[in-house]
Amino acid sequence: MKVTIVGAGAVGASCAEYIAIKNFASEVVLIDIKEGYAEGKAMDLMQTASLNGFDTKVSGCTNDYTKTAGSDVAVITSGIPRKPGMTREELIGINAGIVKTVTQNILDHSPNAIFIVVSNPMDTMAYLTHKSLGLDRNRILGMGGALDSARFKYRLAEALECPASDVNGIVIGGHSDTGMIPLSRLAVRNSIPVSKFLSEEKIDKVVEATKVGGATLTKLLGTSAWYAPGAAVSSIVQSIACDQNKMFPCSALLEGEYGLNDISIGVPCIIGKNGIEKIVELELTDAEKAKLQTSAAAVKKTNGLLDV
Ligand code: LAC
Repeated sequence: MKVTIVGAGAVGASCAEYIAIKNFASEVVLIDIKEGYAEGKAMDLMQTASLNGFDTKVSGCTNDYTKTAGSDVAVITSGIPRKPGMTREELIGINAGIVKTVTQNILDHSPNAIFIVVSNPMDTMAYLTHKSLGLDRNRILGMGGALDSARFKYRLAEALECPASDVNGIVIGGHSDTGMIPLSRLAVRNSIPVSKFLSEEKIDKVVEATKVGGATLTKLLGTSAWYAPGAAVSSIVQSIACDQNKMFPCSALLEGEYGLNDISIGVPCIIGKNGIEKIVELELTDAEKAKLQTSAAAVKKTNGLLDV
């Protein structure tokens, strides 16, 4: 399994590190436009191999797509991250051109690759990739829901005063501060609904903290986060590489599911060797359906800014 990560910034490098540490891929190629940067990150990571006990070969290159040839999975992190006070949507002007170019370069050298889009605004960048590459829809997915769900579980665990491994929960909808829909109705602590342990007010606080999870970190760090995004991507890559058929909410191109069409937005997906093996359709309440419609309308509005 060969994985290319486009963009050796914080998210790309963190993703490479988690993939290497999990030791399931034979090769990871980091590619960046900044001269020597990906080579440096790759060399630094390879110098941890004997310490961390992995065999994955991590290499770096400057804008040389021939080195990415034959990749099974391509992770697209390139573009600029948001600064404090910015929304993900404000990045569209710069990132759309970059994402369009790099995804085409990847496809030219790796005709069978599965694409995981991370660049923001993520749902719109995933949609753009579908429109510009025209591949079967299972081969392009956006990483947002897996990250947002991890943040939801973090906030749930915090409120429940328990380890995150004791809780489960998913976030659907757009990967934006206002578009995320943490499905608190379905969140559980060890199979028991969290409403058994938390008041409605506390659950509402968890939901609100989840939705601004990325913005909170951007304010603290001065740029957007990388550990949880990198870990979320690496889990999706592993599910593809090892054909695990794990379920993650991912941004998927919908063709009628959830009553939506011609949009890529976060819904639960089974992820295996073909990318999205199945889109899982949940029975939503009327209130959840209305939130998803509102979230989809916002994503479509951003998509409308694309030149596709
Ligand atoms: C975040 C970015 C990766 O939510 O969108 O941290």
